[in-house]
Amino acid sequence: MNVKKIVEKMTLKEKLQQLTQLNAGFLDKNAGTEATGPLSSMGLTSQDLNGIGSVLNFQGPDNVKAIQRQHLEDDTNKIPMLFMMDVIHGCRTIYPVPIGLSASFDPQLVKDCCAMAAKEAAAEGINVTFAPMADLVRDARWGRVMESTGEDPYLNCLYSRAAVEGFQGDLKKGKVAACVKHYAAYGAAEAGRDYNTVDMSERTLREYYLPAYKAAVDAGVEMVMTSFNVLDGVPAAANKKLVDGILRKEWKFGGVVISDYNSFREMITHGVAENEHDAACLAVNAGNDIEMMSATYIGHIESLIKEGKVSLKQIDKAVERVLKLKKKMGMFSDPYLDADKALADSLDCCKEHRDLARKAAEKCAVLLKNDGVLPFSTEVKKVAVIGPFANTGEILGNWRCYGKHEQTVTVLAGVKNLLGGAEVVYAEGVSGELTASDESGIAAAVKAAKGADAVILTLGEPQGDSGEGNSKLDLELPAVQYKLLDEVLKANKNTAVLLFSGRPLAIKRLSETAPAILEVWQPGTEGGSAAANLLFGKAVPSGKLTMSFPAKTGQCPVYYNHYNTGRPRMNDDVRVAYTSSYIDGPNKPLYPFGYGLSYTAFGYSDLKLSSSVLQSGGTVTASVKVKNKGSVAGEETVQLYIRDLFGSAVRPVKELKGFKKVMLAAGEEKEVSFEINEDMLAFYGPDLVKKAEKGDFKVFIGGDSECADSVSFRLV
Ligand code: BGC
Repeated sequence: MNVKKIVEKMTLKEKLQQLTQLNAGFLDKNAGTEATGPLSSMGLTSQDLNGIGSVLNFQGPDNVKAIQRQHLEDDTNKIPMLFMMDVIHGCRTIYPVPIGLSASFDPQLVKDCCAMAAKEAAAEGINVTFAPMADLVRDARWGRVMESTGEDPYLNCLYSRAAVEGFQGDLKKGKVAACVKHYAAYGAAEAGRDYNTVDMSERTLREYYLPAYKAAVDAGVEMVMTSFNVLDGVPAAANKKLVDGILRKEWKFGGVVISDYNSFREMITHGVAENEHDAACLAVNAGNDIEMMSATYIGHIESLIKEGKVSLKQIDKAVERVLKLKKKMGMFSDPYLDADKALADSLDCCKEHRDLARKAAEKCAVLLKNDGVLPFSTEVKKVAVIGPFANTGEILGNWRCYGKHEQTVTVLAGVKNLLGGAEVVYAEGVSGELTASDESGIAAAVKAAKGADAVILTLGEPQGDSGEGNSKLDLELPAVQYKLLDEVLKANKNTAVLLFSGRPLAIKRLSETAPAILEVWQPGTEGGSAAANLLFGKAVPSGKLTMSFPAKTGQCPVYYNHYNTGRPRMNDDVRVAYTSSYIDGPNKPLYPFGYGLSYTAFGYSDLKLSSSVLQSGGTVTASVKVKNKGSVAGEETVQLYIRDLFGSAVRPVKELKGFKKVMLAAGEEKEVSFEINEDMLAFYGPDLVKKAEKGDFKVFIGGDSECADSVSFRLV
C-alpha cells in the first residue's frame, strides 16, 4: 500500500476532506444537520461528509464501527477515518487529574496509567488521544492547570515523554497515537484567563515553555495540536515560525499537526484574518495539517491554489502525513483495529485497572499539614464523614472521558469498606458550589461530628470548576465552606480536611485552622478507597507539589524558579520599602513546589560534593544522607536543585535538576547521590544559544524547593 499513490488518485476536494475533522454528530447524514444549520453554517454539504478524514467525540466501539462502516461504503477512496478523543486521565477507569498525578514525582507511574488508558481507549475504538498536555503552567487561576504536570520544565519533560511512551508504545494492539498539545505556550495565558493572549521573549519560550513539547516529539509522538492563543502577536495556528520553523524544520517533526477546536476560524476573531479564505491560507502556510471542527480548507483551498497562495504540493504533503499515520496504525488492513464492545466492557474498571488507579491516587495525595491528627486509628468506633465531596462519585475530575460517577468509590464508601464494623455517619453540611451560601445543613454536620472518634471533612472545588474555560479570580474556598469548618472544629478537634481540587488553591485560612490537610485533587475512580487508606495509615502520603500553592491569589503567577530581581525581598515577615515585594502579604507561596509531608519526618545531613571543581566534560557527585526520623516507614522524594550564580542571562534562584525516590524504614538512613554534568547547567543565553557558562554554582538537596543547605562548585 503506497500512500503517495493513493494521494495521486485523490481529487483536491477529497484531499481537503481528508484534512477535515468533525464531531461524530455531524457525520450522521440522517440527523438533518444540513437542514437545521450546523453543517451549512460550516459551509459543508452532506456530500462533503463522504471523505472526511477523522472524527472526534463519539460514543463507544459500536458507534465507532457503525460510523466507520458507513464511511467506507461512502468514501470513493475507501480510506478509513481516524477516531480521536480526549483521553486525558483514563478512559473508563479514571485516575487522578494530571496535576495531581504529577505530584507522585513518578514518570513510570504516569507511563503505566497512560498505558492502561490506551488499552481501554483502543477497545473503545479510539485511535488517537489528544494528550499529553505539555503546557508549562505558573498561574493557578487558569482552569487548565488541572491537565498539566506543573511549573517545572525538567519534570514536565519527563512526564511528557512518559505519557507518549505509555499511550503509544509500539502503536500495536491496545495502543493509541498520542497528540501533544497545546503548541505552544498556551499555559502562559495572561492573568490565567483561558484563551487569552500570550506574549514572551523567545528566550523564555525556549528555556521554559518549549522543552516539554520537544520531549514528546523526541519520544516519537505522532501528532501535535496547535494552541488557541496568540504568541508574539500571531495565533499559534497561524504562526509559521512556531509550526513550520521550530516544530518541522528545527525539531524535524514529521507527524501530523492538528488545529484546536475551530481555531482556524478564530483567527478572524483574533483579527489576523479578514475571512475564512485568509484563515485557511494562514493555517496551511503555517504548517497545520488537520483542521478541527471548521471547514475553511474545504471552502477555500481550491481558490487559494488558483491564486498561487497555497501550493498543491503543500496539501499533498499534509494528506500524506495523515495517511502515513493511518497506515502505520494498520488501519488500511483493519479499519476497526481494537474496537470491541466485549473487550471494552471487560476492561471497564476491572480489578487490575482499579488497583492501578488506587495506587496512583495514593501516590499523588499531598499531605499539606498535620498537627498529629493523622493517621487516624483503625480502631475507631465512630467516624463522621462530612462535606460536599464525601458522598459523591463526582470526584473524577474534568475531562473524564467515559468515566462514570456511579462506578466511583466515594469517600464514604471507601471509609466504610476499610473500617468494616465501625459506625460511619455522614452529613453533607454545605454544597460545594462556588456560589453556595445555604448554611442550613451545618447543624446536622455538627451533630455528626460530635462524639465521633475521627472526623473527615471534605472541602474544595467541584470537578466542573477546573478544566477548560474555568479560570478563577479568587482561589480561596467559598465562605460557606469555612463556616462549616469552623462549626465542625468547635464540635470536634480530631478533624482532618480532605481537600479536592483541580488546581492549587489559596487556602491560607484553612492552613491556619485545620489540624490536618490532605490534598487529594480529583482522585478518580478509586478516589474514596485511596483516601481511606491514606487517612487511616494503610498508605503513607508521599506526594509532592508540582505547582506552588499561593498564599493569596494576588501572588499569581507564583513559581519557585523565579529570578532574584535587583532588589530581592529577604524577609517575608517585614515590610521593607523599595524591595520587590507586596506591602500586604508575603512573596513566598503558602506551600512551595516540591513540598509534601509524610506520616514520618525526614532529616537531611552531610550534604557534600566529590569536588569543588567541575571540569568541562566531566562530572561531580553531590550526595546527602537522608534519615527517617519517625516511627513508620515512608517514601521521600529527594530533590536536587542547582543555582547558577552568574550568567549572560539572569538565572533562576533554583532549578530542579534531578530527584530520587527513597523508601526508608523507621530509623533508617541512606545516602542519596546525584551526578552533575555540564549539560545539566546549560541554558539559553541572550543569543538564543543553549550552553553552560563557566563560573560558580550552588547545589541544594532537600525535600522541597525551599531547602536551604547548599554546597558550591565551579565549572572550569
Ligand atoms: C481543547 C482541546 C481538546 C479539543 C477537542 C478543545 O476545546 O482546547 O484540548 O483536545 O477541544 O476536544
